[in-house]
Amino acid sequence: MEKLLVNKVIVVSGGTKGVGREVVTESVKEGADVVIGGRDQAAADKIIQEVIDNNYGKTPYFVKTQVTQVEGCKKLIDDSIAKYGRIDGYVNYAGILPEGYLYETEEELFDKVITLNIKAAFFCAKYVVKHMLETGGGSMVFVGSAHGYGGEKDRAAYAVSKGALLTLYKHIAKNYAEDNIRSNYVVMGWVATPGELAFRETQNRDLKWLETEGVKYIPMGRMMTVEDHAPGIVYLLSDKASAVTGTELNITGGFTA
Ligand SMILES: NC(=O)c1ccc[n+]([C@@H]2O[C@H](COP(=O)([O-])OP(=O)(O)OC[C@H]3O[C@@H](n4cnc5c(N)ncnc54)[C@H](OP(=O)(O)O)[C@@H]3O)[C@@H](O)[C@H]2O)c1
Repeated sequence: MEKLLVNKVIVVSGGTKGVGREVVTESVKEGADVVIGGRDQAAADKIIQEVIDNNYGKTPYFVKTQVTQVEGCKKLIDDSIAKYGRIDGYVNYAGILPEGYLYETEEELFDKVITLNIKAAFFCAKYVVKHMLETGGGSMVFVGSAHGYGGEKDRAAYAVSKGALLTLYKHIAKNYAEDNIRSNYVVMGWVATPGELAFRETQNRDLKWLETEGVKYIPMGRMMTVEDHAPGIVYLLSDKASAVTGTELNITGGFTA
């Protein structure tokens, strides 16, 4: 079968875990050179070993970086270009999903979620767009949430961060289509990622709770998986989607927030 990402360089912020990790391995299988962005060296090494052991494709390259600092975003993009000469696709996945009612949210929590979920996304996008303007375009995929459309009551700062991400992706789609830069938003469904499980642990809940009680919130009656998400993201990165920009792809099993 035709591979979808041959001759493409794909950068995944938050490529060490969850959906980001799955996008890394699926992009490798589709023929891409892939950069894994993140902080967790051991997790990145594990992915690289998995790719080698299974002969999935080209060995991914890890850029260890803290994207909450603008310099960290610049490093992710600069190191990727230094390694492969260009970037054709960028996936913004790094993020956190903390809980908090508006009337209880402290400045510290607000700053933490905004710094990673939107400031980092904004500055990584800055350097990606700057590069793609020079190289003739590319595809950007922002991993968002149903909470971005208003959100549930206990996710105030998180919802605001994902709403701002919606504006960022639309801003790029609207203003850079003429430069062949595509920008799309994936509304990620409820997945038992390492981040989600860590968050549920703080509520004394576990995977079993997610799969029994949690799924009652999802119309389709099951948790989403990383495998549900990667094909849609790979499609948006590929030339099959060469006319697709400014769209929101819902992979939520019907869940809205
Ligand atoms: N899980 C869900 O149900 C769900 C639903 C909707 C949307 N989302 C979205 O999915 C994204 C990930 O959330 P998650 O909790 O599910 O994550 P996850 O799969 O556990 O992965 C989080 C990723 O973000 C990276 N990351 C975190 N802080 C970072 C930092 N300061 N600098 C660089 N990389 C950093 C982590 O890499 P390192 O550990 O290597 O630093 C990791 O690869 C978020 O944008 C969230 O809004 C999740």
